[in-house]
Amino acid sequence: MFKPAQRIRFSPQPGAAPSRAEAAASRLFSPVDCGPMRLATRTWVPAMVPWRASPDGEVNADVIAWYARLAQGRPGAIVIEATGIRDVPSGPLLRIGDDRFVPGLARLVAAVREASGGETRLLIQLIDFLTIRRRPERDTFLRRFLPLTDALRARVGHGDDTAVREALVALPDAELRAILPERDWEALSLGYRERVTDTHLPQIAELPQVLPGLFAKAAARAEAAGFDGIELHYAHAYTMASFLSARNDRADGYGGPREARVRLPLEVFAAVRAAVSPNIAVGCRMLADECIAGGSGPDDAAWFAAEFARAGMDFLSLSRGGKFDDAAQPRVGEAAYPYTGPSGYECMPAALSDAAGPFGRNLAAARGVRAAVRAAGCTTPVVTAGGVHGFAQAEAMLHDGSADVVAAARQSLADPDWWLKLRSGHGAAVRVCEYSNYCEGLDQKHKQVTCKLWDRLDLTGPLRALASDGRRRLEPPAWSPAPPSGSITE
Ligand SMILES: Cc1cc2nc3c(=O)[nH]c(=O)nc-3n(C[C@H](O)[C@H](O)[C@H](O)COP(=O)(O)O)c2cc1C
Ligand code: SF4
Repeated sequence: MFKPAQRIRFSPQPGAAPSRAEAAASRLFSPVDCGPMRLATRTWVPAMVPWRASPDGEVNADVIAWYARLAQGRPGAIVIEATGIRDVPSGPLLRIGDDRFVPGLARLVAAVREASGGETRLLIQLIDFLTIRRRPERDTFLRRFLPLTDALRARVGHGDDTAVREALVALPDAELRAILPERDWEALSLGYRERVTDTHLPQIAELPQVLPGLFAKAAARAEAAGFDGIELHYAHAYTMASFLSARNDRADGYGGPREARVRLPLEVFAAVRAAVSPNIAVGCRMLADECIAGGSGPDDAAWFAAEFARAGMDFLSLSRGGKFDDAAQPRVGEAAYPYTGPSGYECMPAALSDAAGPFGRNLAAARGVRAAVRAAGCTTPVVTAGGVHGFAQAEAMLHDGSADVVAAARQSLADPDWWLKLRSGHGAAVRVCEYSNYCEGLDQKHKQVTCKLWDRLDLTGPLRALASDGRRRLEPPAWSPAPPSGSITE
């Protein structure tokens, strides 16, 4: 995980807990419409992969228990983790690339409805991603996988191909790096990774023809499973964000100027919108800033957001960074991970931070995005995440133009009941996130994600299940005391 040079320790400042009456009068706990989807409150749990799906991407008991536990806090909306739209093996990442996934997803929807008393709206984040391979063993790569070209043979300069490969194996890294084509050096030192600009590959060239249909079919399945909304994953390191990136210089009308980079995201949205009924909300998660050299910045984000709003998206959820481009070198046998470099840090900043700190890092860019959407004459709600862990902080975001809906990922992981506690006058009982990124460390290793503040609590009591390491509970203990009786929405 990237560590900024400055090591300033920031402490969470949740501020005073609101009384029940203050919460009832707040903007945070007031309703908002995301197109056809009415949220009872402006509270949102953004997508977080908890690594609980079955090895073939199916919903199982752990997935259901996880989201039902999040729903007990009754946020306005929960977005189910990034879910793959292709019917290809993706490890324990949820999938929606075939009709066989619909019954499991329908059970998940039903469990969330029941756990939230029908209050929480449920969305699913639809993702496409390109091929990425693990970092290979140096000698194996050079002896077996490196493509030998005539140019490379000429540069090494002696013998048959076996001799050329052995000569490469014998070279020190600095010389090898100077001699190998850049992408081959990358494949060796980081692991092979496809880019949307690799248009010499047929599967990459045809993405604009293939993706609208794949997203549309996945969205129709999500509607069949009973979801209230679709979140198109246009953020972080994945295919659609790469089309939006200023680094996308495709020459086929889908890269280069902003107008061309936004084309496929708009075409995907149009296909999805046409594939689901008008009562399903469709929006996207996008980056307010890619936070990489040569990438799209806040001005691009504001421009894209206005385009998406004009096209009729029902919400725009903003994140930040999280790119492969500056990810740390993985260990041999592991794949690069987009949250390990400086842009990854921008996405999930920790308590030990640079001067900008971990709280509200995305707010200035978010204000720019929201202002551009309003200037385009659209009222599209903007959902903003980034270090939110307190009532006053959330309320301020809603008043200063940073957000229409407040999203909290790690704070909701630390205490899924926190929204309900704030709302019902029990704010002093909130378990406040320490921004340790212990959870993110688990995510990086594809281990079941839990929080250090609760995963060792009451391990001897009755438990539904333990993590596969046998040492952690998978869901936080139930909240006690029970909330006061009566409606909490008055
Ligand atoms: C364990 C974990 C998994 C995540 N998975 C996703 C994901 O699937 N899709 C996504 O858009 N963001 C994902 N994120 C990013 C969060 O949604 C959020 O943008 C980020 O954590 C910053 O918000 P926070 O400060 O409230 O945690 C993940 C974050 C964590 C901690
Ligand atoms: S492990 Fe818990 S306390 Fe640490 S960042 Fe994650 S949610 Fe917050």
